[in-house]
Amino acid sequence: MTNQSGADIINVNERLHLQDPTSLYNSLLERGPFFNGTHWILSRYAHVSALLKNQAPSKRTGSEPLAGSLRKNILFKDPPDHTRHRSAAQEFFSPKAMMPEEELVMETVRRLINRVKDKRSMEFVSEFATRLPVIIMGDYLGVSDDKKDELAGYARQFIFEFSNDPEVSDRAVTALRNYFTQHIDNFLRAAIPGRLLARLAAGYRDGILDKDELIEMCVFLFAAGTETSGSLLGSGLLTLLQHPESLEAIRNDATLLPNAVEEMLRYESPVPMTTMRSTTEPMEIDGLVIPEGCPVIGILAAANRDPEKFPDPGRFDIYRNTTGHFSFGGGIHYCMGASLVRLEAKVTFTALFEQLPTLRLDHGNIFNRLTRKIYRSPGSGAWYWRERTPTRGLEYLKLKW
Ligand code: HEM
Repeated sequence: MTNQSGADIINVNERLHLQDPTSLYNSLLERGPFFNGTHWILSRYAHVSALLKNQAPSKRTGSEPLAGSLRKNILFKDPPDHTRHRSAAQEFFSPKAMMPEEELVMETVRRLINRVKDKRSMEFVSEFATRLPVIIMGDYLGVSDDKKDELAGYARQFIFEFSNDPEVSDRAVTALRNYFTQHIDNFLRAAIPGRLLARLAAGYRDGILDKDELIEMCVFLFAAGTETSGSLLGSGLLTLLQHPESLEAIRNDATLLPNAVEEMLRYESPVPMTTMRSTTEPMEIDGLVIPEGCPVIGILAAANRDPEKFPDPGRFDIYRNTTGHFSFGGGIHYCMGASLVRLEAKVTFTALFEQLPTLRLDHGNIFNRLTRKIYRSPGSGAWYWRERTPTRGLEYLKLKW
């Protein structure tokens, strides 16, 4: 099916995984709001902003796949339940609370680099980017080292099979839920480590969360806190290596790094679109009225490339004003882990460029673990983008030094 401007409008979700989605973002921006047969799609910055900042649209859409299991977590709640869930964990992730975490993140980053340093090469996605957040979130939730990889595997299936094979995704959520049910029982009987778990359990003891909600919170935080961050570390590093002048500037002036991380988030948005919302009253967008009861999604990655907000949006510019990018969403569902991700990215890039000063792309053939095929991607061979939504990240990034 095509729209009036000739763009394929039905497969937006499937097409967000493209190796280069720039033309998709451009055609979405040009097209403006449209109904694709099942839901409304908003892509321009002002329109996505209107969606996110407006509290009226509900997360109870009834049209999400896996509605049963997903509906239980914070991202799919409306106030007042949403406010209650958020209050149980929000303070743990506040920018101020995250400041003293730098040492823990640094220690983990050092360990991961030391493991590969003498090899003089690594596949960054599997050997670093997906490992760091799993170790950190696992530690926060008191998961023992021997369980972290297994749980990370379930988290990956939960997220990536979500639109591909919902039953596999559902089974993975169940496995995570079973693990955390047992784990929380152990925790409540005899305190085990896990500072985030301790905070959430205090919320349970104070009557803020019930037991099921506590379990869902652990499942969701573990899943949301791992794959997304891994995606940013991979795409951010690739982008920097592709822009040596920016990398050089950061090496010479570390104060440029925080804004460079924001620009990485804007330029290669790891979560390209919002979850579904449903209008609870007619919603007017530039004179067009979306009736009550309609499912709507916002394409965050396209809004981040809207020239009305970010001039020359296809240029990676570590000096640009990145304020207001939508990579972490906005409004009441604004990402709770944003400060943690920023810290992980800052510590990772600082340590990598200090400890592996000759770090560069390792061009060659690519073995894609998902399709089990060998690729040579145009122009490089050192990287390949994952062919799965809903997050956008690298499947593979080969480095040497
Ligand atoms: C680069 C990494 C990340 C990105 C790009 C990202 C992006 C997002 C986005 C776009 C949303 C809002 C979705 C919507 O409104 O439909 C969101 C929500 C959320 N994220 Fe993240 N996220 C990242 C990492 C994390 C981490 C590390 C954690 C936890 C430790 C986390 C926890 C959450 C939670 C709990 C919500 C739901 C908040 C609510 O509904 O109030 N995220 N994230």
